[in-house]
Amino acid sequence: MPRMLIVYHSQSGASALLAAAAREGAEATGGVKVTLRRVWDAGAQDIVAADGLLLVAAENSGGLSGGMKDFLDRTFYPVGERGCVLPCALLVSAGNDGRGAVRQAQRILSGFPMREAVEPVICRGPVTPDLEARASELGAGFAAGLEMGIF
Ligand SMILES: Cc1cc2nc3c(=O)[nH]c(=O)nc-3n(C[C@H](O)[C@H](O)[C@H](O)COP(=O)(O)O)c2cc1C
Repeated sequence: MPRMLIVYHSQSGASALLAAAAREGAEATGGVKVTLRRVWDAGAQDIVAADGLLLVAAENSGGLSGGMKDFLDRTFYPVGERGCVLPCALLVSAGNDGRGAVRQAQRILSGFPMREAVEPVICRGPVTPDLEARASELGAGFAAGLEMGIF
């Protein structure tokens, strides 16, 4: 069974809710083994053990949240040294924009390198059931692609 790693950073809880919804959607497919970790508890070993990576974080000050940036900074060399290139997906929580966080994440991920497998999803404003449904769909779609081996 493909292994899907979801790593999230959340200060006020929004990205945490979205990450949980994405996990639910992914697990509902029944075709992947999902691991959900906070950025602080995750490292390069989790990435190299995975078949797909979903990053969930907020936009802060026009860019990717500091916690997620730290995670990517500290895993860059160890993951690159092992030649690990994974399909990845992005889920961004934002007040009213989110595009800066997506741009920065894409730039970093292209350098790893990682393959962006699906369109990034930006969830603006407080987390509503609709936004949780979008996050769940992203998780399910990414999981389905991993299961089918199309990424
Ligand atoms: C320090 C800080 C900077 C922020 N900067 C932005 C921003 O540039 N663009 C935006 O759309 N929202 C911005 N926000 C709002 C957050 O992206 C939004 O509240 C998000 O849902 C927080 O997610 P979290 O609770 O998972 O950290 C900012 C919030 C904080 C605390």
